[in-house]
Amino acid sequence: MYGGRQIPAGTAVSMDAYHIHVNPDIFPDPHEFKPERWLGDPMSFDGKHRLSYYLTSFSRGSRVCIGMYLALMDMYVALATLFRRHKLELFETDRSDVDFIMDLVRPMPKWDSKGVRVIVKTGAPI
Ligand code: HEM
Repeated sequence: MYGGRQIPAGTAVSMDAYHIHVNPDIFPDPHEFKPERWLGDPMSFDGKHRLSYYLTSFSRGSRVCIGMYLALMDMYVALATLFRRHKLELFETDRSDVDFIMDLVRPMPKWDSKGVRVIVKTGAPI
């Protein structure tokens, strides 16, 4: 029995990062961009773990992504450089170009999404 449901013996049981990340008990307003939710390395809703315990983009445990810290460092440096040096304006892009609507091994936006496109308004050359 789990969560009031009977799971027959032998049933494969799994989980995925997406459904952890959009669980409002763990991340209130999960679809809102709220970077402040991470300020001060907060505890999770149950007080048992750091909130970061539930961030599973790189998986967790013995098969965690071996490149996690390299990838995080790349993203911190690249995004900080981009947004500090440039003023960007969205170009023919809206929320529907990034919202996930299907899962093909990884979550995907609509078929005809061209991704996020911007016009660089100002900025120093990198
Ligand atoms: C944003 C960037 C990245 C994300 C979101 C990501 C995510 C993941 C995830 C979820 C897994 C676990 C796959 C599984 O077995 O279920 C994984 C494994 C792995 N990743 Fe990454 N990864 C990223 C970048 C990188 C980089 C930069 C490298 C190498 C420089 C890397 C190398 C690996 C390797 C070798 C594994 C297999 C680890 C193992 O099974 O022991 N990844 N990654």
